[in-house]
Formats: sequence, C-alpha cells, structure tokens
Amino acid sequence: MSDTAPLILGIESSCDETGVALVQANGSPVPQLLSHALYSQIEMHQAYGGVVPELASRDHIRRVLPLTTQVMQEAGKSLNDIDVVAYTRGPGLAGALLVGAGVACALGAALGKPVLGVHHLEGHLLSPFLSADPPEFPFVALLVSGGHTQLMRVDGVGRYEILGETIDDAAGEAFDKSAKLMGLGYPGGPALSRLAEQGDGTAFKLPRPLLHSGNLDFSFAGLKTAVLTQAQRLGPELEARKADLAASTQAAIVEVLVKKSLAALDQTGMKRLVVAGGVGANRHLREQLNAQCAKRKVRVHYPELHLCTDNGAMIAMAAAMRLQAGMQEASRAYTFEVKPRWPLDAISQSV
Ligand code: KG4
Ligand code: ZN
Repeated sequence: MSDTAPLILGIESSCDETGVALVQANGSPVPQLLSHALYSQIEMHQAYGGVVPELASRDHIRRVLPLTTQVMQEAGKSLNDIDVVAYTRGPGLAGALLVGAGVACALGAALGKPVLGVHHLEGHLLSPFLSADPPEFPFVALLVSGGHTQLMRVDGVGRYEILGETIDDAAGEAFDKSAKLMGLGYPGGPALSRLAEQGDGTAFKLPRPLLHSGNLDFSFAGLKTAVLTQAQRLGPELEARKADLAASTQAAIVEVLVKKSLAALDQTGMKRLVVAGGVGANRHLREQLNAQCAKRKVRVHYPELHLCTDNGAMIAMAAAMRLQAGMQEASRAYTFEVKPRWPLDAISQSV
C-alpha cells in the first residue's frame, strides 16, 4: 500500500443494488469519494413484489465489472492504482454477497493487492461522513434500513454500543409491508412517502408501538396489522382514502423513531445525532427530527439523499475509515467467507 493516500475500491452487493466506488483515504478530516456508480435491480424484482435472491445474484454478476470500469474511468485511475479492494461481507443475501466477495478477492489476487470485508451496517452508519457536513464523534446513531432499526452510541470507528433495536420488523419493512398491502408495489417506502404528501397524517388512529416502553426498543409488526385491519375496514373506500392511510402510517412510524431518538440523546447526554439507512431518506422523518433537534440544540447529520440506500461509496468509506483508524488490516489470504447474519456489535470494540 502506498504510504500516504491509499486508493480503495468498494463493492456492495448485499441485496438488490450493485454499487462500486473509489475512495482516497487521504482526506482531511475524512477520506474523499472520487467516483461511484450504482445499478438498481428494482425494476427486475418489481414483477415479483420483492427481491428474488437468485435473480439478484445473477444480476450482480452481470453488473459488477462494468461498474468497476466506469468508476475507474470517471476517477481517471487504472486498476493498478488500487491499494485495497473492499467488499460487503454481510449481512445480506448469501448468494448476492458471494458475488461481491468473489470479485473482490479475484481482483485483489490478480492485482496483488489486499482485500477487506466490510460490515454493511457500518457502511450505512459511516455514510454521513461522505456528506458536505460530516459529523464528529461521538454521536447517537439512528440506523433505519430495510432490515434493521437500531439506536446506537457511537464513540469512534468500530466503537458501537447498541442502545435499542427492533424486536420484530424494521422501520423500512413497516413502510414496505404497509405499502404492499395498500397496493403500492415494491419497494414501498418511497412510494408510500410520496403518496403521504397528499394525505392527512391524523386521519387514522394507528398504534405507536413501544412508544412508552421506557426503553429504546422498537416494534413495528403490530402497526402493519393495524394498517391491514384499517384497509380491510375501508373496503372499496380505500382507493379514495389511500393518501390519508399512507400519511397516517408514515406519521406513526416517524413519531416512534423521533421520540426514541430524543430519548437516546437524553439517556447519553449527547448533542449530536446521525441518521443512516434507506428510511433516512424520508422527508417527513427529516423534517420532524430537524424541528425537534433544533429545539434541543442537537445537531443532526444525514447521508446525502442518493447515498441513503445501498451503495458502494459507503463500503469504500467504511473500509478507508477502518484502515485509517487502525481498526483492521486488509488481507492477502483471499479466502473469502461471507456472513449473511452478522450483528453490528460483533465487530465493535468496547466503547
Ligand atoms: O438501507 P437500505 O437501502 O437497505 C437495507 O440495507 O435494508 O434501505 C432500504 C429501505 C426499504 O425498506 C425502503 O422502502 C426504505 O429503505 N426507504 C424509504 C424511503 N426510501 C427508502 N422509506 C421511507 N421513505 C423513503 N423516502
Ligand atoms: Zn442497506
């Protein structure tokens, strides 16, 4: 690896987005994103109402090398300039992860460069460092993706303490499942939030699960059932009231996320909140958090909108930050092993 400015290629393939990016770890205060490219498989999976794992893997295989060529060209670099190849090691779909891991190890072996497996959620968590206004440690993090909903105390790279998490569905799942039963297709989160813009969030009384539980855990499975019951009760009227039901569902999810985030800030005494993961793109969530945090003089940081959902930039960035912090070394073993299930605290050093 060159002494000063290691160039890191990041490959993300854990679910239905192939992402590749190049980051230079010489940035001050944080590494710099040179280029990134993304191919979303959403259209392909739409016909099935959800992600079909085997199709996802096959499509990652088709996309990953052309995307790699694209990011190299856009950054004006050649493959030989790469110092480290990073890939998403987990959690995610096993076959999809194997594509990224296999390509990363093959590239590393061919170029004689080391590889590094990255935790997908650490990628999301550190993605706000790619924004124009990067946060500083320590902070409370609200990680809200399609598969995870967690509140964390973050004291540095690799120093994560989970303060609370969902005991059933994730917030993204609550958006997706509610949207599906309203006939809004896949993935439902963005569609539901678009429709909600035209609706009244107070129109239907929906539960706020675990709002007063006294801890920082979440539960969204009951909300989805309540939305289903409401939709069935509306029957033929649903079509005309869909925007109100979407807005009410969104209001319920967002209220719980905001109140629990504020409780986590109170509990830790911290004045900085970082929001990451796909649901972090939700406009209503951002507005509510901004308003509440402004009142409490808490700074809120988000990833750039286009980097909220899965992408290669966050994987390259997490690798760069881990290397820069001396948390991990890249390996020349090229014996990749993916981890479809992998809790984030498994990679945390004690806070
Ligand atoms: O982080 P992500 O790309 O994938 C996982 O790692 O799971 O998150 C995807 C999730 C999906 O559930 C999607 O519906 C949700 O993020 N999402 C949104 C919005 N954009 C994406 N949910 C609500 N409002 C949005 N604008
Ligand atoms: Zn993700």
